[in-house]
Amino acid sequence: MDTAFGAGLLDLRPDDLPDGLVVADRLGLVSCFNTEAARLTGRTSEESLRRPLESALPLEDPDGRPWWRLTNPYGGLATRSGQPERNLLLPGGREVLVTARYVRPHPGGPVRRLVVTLRGTDARKRTERSNAELIATVAHELRSPLTSVKGFTATMLDKWDRFTDEQKRLMLQTVDCDADRVTRLITELLDVSRIDSGRLEIRRQPVRLDEAVRRHVKNMVNGGCPAERFALRLSEPLPGLWADPDKVDQVLGNLLENAVRHGGGTVTIEMDRVPSTRTRQEGLAVTVSDEGPGIPEEAMHRVFTRFWRGSERGGTGLGLYIVKGIVEAHGGTVTVGRSAGGGARFRFILPAGTPAFLL
Ligand SMILES: Nc1ncnc2c1ncn2[C@@H]1O[C@H](COP(=O)(O)OP(=O)(O)OP(=O)(O)O)[C@@H](O)[C@H]1O
Ligand SMILES: [Mg+2]
Repeated sequence: MDTAFGAGLLDLRPDDLPDGLVVADRLGLVSCFNTEAARLTGRTSEESLRRPLESALPLEDPDGRPWWRLTNPYGGLATRSGQPERNLLLPGGREVLVTARYVRPHPGGPVRRLVVTLRGTDARKRTERSNAELIATVAHELRSPLTSVKGFTATMLDKWDRFTDEQKRLMLQTVDCDADRVTRLITELLDVSRIDSGRLEIRRQPVRLDEAVRRHVKNMVNGGCPAERFALRLSEPLPGLWADPDKVDQVLGNLLENAVRHGGGTVTIEMDRVPSTRTRQEGLAVTVSDEGPGIPEEAMHRVFTRFWRGSERGGTGLGLYIVKGIVEAHGGTVTVGRSAGGGARFRFILPAGTPAFLL
């Protein structure tokens, strides 16, 4: 099929289109049947061309009714301009998404040409499956802390007088922890949904990343982590960044918490300036490495996916997915590898950024 659309300016061939394209002339005979249409229908263009649309593309609606007879493009209402996207069936039951346009040179006049686009449903099915899996995982993650909350509160209410104050305090502490877990999960899920729908807002302000790192380390030391577990290596001078300080805090918080919780030994934080090149803006690279067990080679490509956890000690498995979402929303990149000490090594690069008022 090498009929080009128009000449000169738009040298586009029907076979260049990512969607299936079928065109019928004013008599309803097929005049174009591109490669993708042939792939989706399992019929060649040769056997489809010049045949009536009804037999070249015998679509049925979900109730098994012949689609072209039902919609009657050539004989129906003269004001109709087409059919919106529908999920229809090909012979053999394969689903396709179909959109049709009725080309009428004069409004209200006869249909001169019928243009039909076809699209496979595999990608949509995959998304639906992954959404269903996500809901199942979320339900499961919410159920375990809630089951524990319910168990302890019910026991306490039932046998209040039989427990000592100390036992009650212990149960309430567990309930408190579980409530925190649910809140954290919900906060993370809201971030995931913002990342997935492209609604993650980046409010750029001047950020000193070295100061942010020092603050995080100090907080962790105050929280009971020995100070000698952290080593800071800065190669001055470091550029200032225009970034979202709260989001950068989330990234640092998760990477450092992961290194302490899942990793081991000394946690080294290195910061380097990344010089600008012809294709890249100047930026800052932060590397967090530890001396723990590291991430197994075969799992490295999965660490940034939703809900992936390497061990039972894991949290919800959303932290690194959010890290990647935040870094990429800033125009940066994040990678995982193995540290010299055998542990995990996470490195992210943030471009220096431009203040919002200059964009
Ligand atoms: N420094 C590390 N060393 C070893 N394993 C790690 C390290 N960092 C992350 N991992 C593994 O990657 C998994 C995913 O990390 P991620 O931060 O996404 O989730 P999480 O820490 O389990 O939960 P949270 O959502 O609370 O952050 C962890 O469960 C852990 O198995
Ligand atoms: Mg984490």
